[in-house]
Amino acid sequence: MAISKVGVVGAGLMGAGIAQTCAQSGYDVVVREINQQLLDKGLARIYGAWDMMASKGKLTHGQVDENRTRIRGTLDIADFAECDLVIEAVIENMEEKLRLFPALDHTLKPDALILSNTSSLNITQMGAVTKRQDKICGLHFFNPAPVMQLVEIVQTISTSQETIETVKQFAISLGKKPVLAKDTAGFIVNFLLIPYLLAAIRMLENGMATRDDIDTAMKLGCGYPMGPFTLLDYVGLDTTMWAAEAIYEEYKDPLYAPPPLLRRMVISGMYGRKSGKGFYDYQ
Ligand code: 3HC
Repeated sequence: MAISKVGVVGAGLMGAGIAQTCAQSGYDVVVREINQQLLDKGLARIYGAWDMMASKGKLTHGQVDENRTRIRGTLDIADFAECDLVIEAVIENMEEKLRLFPALDHTLKPDALILSNTSSLNITQMGAVTKRQDKICGLHFFNPAPVMQLVEIVQTISTSQETIETVKQFAISLGKKPVLAKDTAGFIVNFLLIPYLLAAIRMLENGMATRDDIDTAMKLGCGYPMGPFTLLDYVGLDTTMWAAEAIYEEYKDPLYAPPPLLRRMVISGMYGRKSGKGFYDYQ
């Protein structure tokens, strides 16, 4: 199936990054938010990234203008009607997704694909509220989406092989390296990454080392680009907690139980970089 028009639901950190990636790879993109303020913020993030790339000589000003013409913001789900493929990147809340999927199913062309960027929620459940379960799978990007090379393609028990092949080619056309995972909570990366991040928080809670020393140790000792607290702030403490809860819900393995400190920081609105404060202060 040929893909030319792409829809992205949500223009937050991940949605904006995904829309940016698709537009700069030559796709016509419609990106939808729930209000004008969030839409403007998402588009500003994308335009800012292109201006930054132009200032570094990675894009010409002509390419920036071309990219801009390929992206359109909307508040109306009906604007996805002509899309060949829609990627949902809304808040990690199953009720929200279960409201969205039937609405997309109703709006999209019968052969259009619906992909979820969820980091750990059950994609089979999202597909089950549509009449196109064979055309639904996960396409999980990593933050920052325009930079990180990996995407996880997540196959449910109902996703057709044809859908997987189309999504694989689409991912490659975005310059990504796809890996295939089954629809189990956390897929590949978060199943392994979340226990590591939660263990770092537990070390801090238990006074085993300082935040800075834990970050330095993992950065310099393991060659990771960021220590766990810098990464937690980068990914978002809310996102991390939701992912941990979803995996814990599936396996009841205490490794995935969110530590009390994480829960309290999220309750207090300390989400990391995006809110200005997390384990570090960004104000
Ligand atoms: N668009 C285009 N380019 C961008 C960009 C964007 N939105 N954001 C950053 N870049 C580019 C920069 O311009 C820079 O390019 P250059 O090297 O040519 O100058 C390059 O990316 C690196 O950025 P910076 O120079 O600002 O910073 P760093 O060299 O420190 O790299 C990083 C930043 C790529 C984020 C690196 O620190 C890193 O890889 N960190 C780990 C990130 C990670 O692990 N992400 C996955 C998290 S898990 C996840 O997302 C899953 C979820 O489900 C929880």
